[in-house]
Amino acid sequence: MKRFGVSLEDNLLDELDSLVEKHRVPNRSQAIRYLIRKNAIQEKWKGNEEVSGCIVLVYDHHKRDVINKSMHIQHIYPNAVLAVQHVHLDHHNCLETIAVKGKAKKLQELADRLISLKGMKHGELVMSTIG
Ligand code: NI
Repeated sequence: MKRFGVSLEDNLLDELDSLVEKHRVPNRSQAIRYLIRKNAIQEKWKGNEEVSGCIVLVYDHHKRDVINKSMHIQHIYPNAVLAVQHVHLDHHNCLETIAVKGKAKKLQELADRLISLKGMKHGELVMSTIG
């Protein structure tokens, strides 16, 4: 562990402190670590590196077309899809979390195709790292 001094304008320091408060980070050092890691992950995704993530989908299972099309699309990316968890939220709605791993562009493409399906109520790609 190395220590270094940081000079920040007042408004930037305020932003850092509000991040500490908002995300309940224990201190400013931890907040800076969080931002550096977050930035590094964003760079990996931008550089089309090997990454991991999770696609979250919410849809009405009565609309059979959504399930069939989602399944069809997932089968086009068998190496990217690691695991699928399906939860029945209520009588109509299903929550699906799809753990994915692979080249960033492929995962983004897969997520876009699923999220943009007609009948999809919500979709989000959580971009993470393989380590
Ligand atoms: Ni369901």
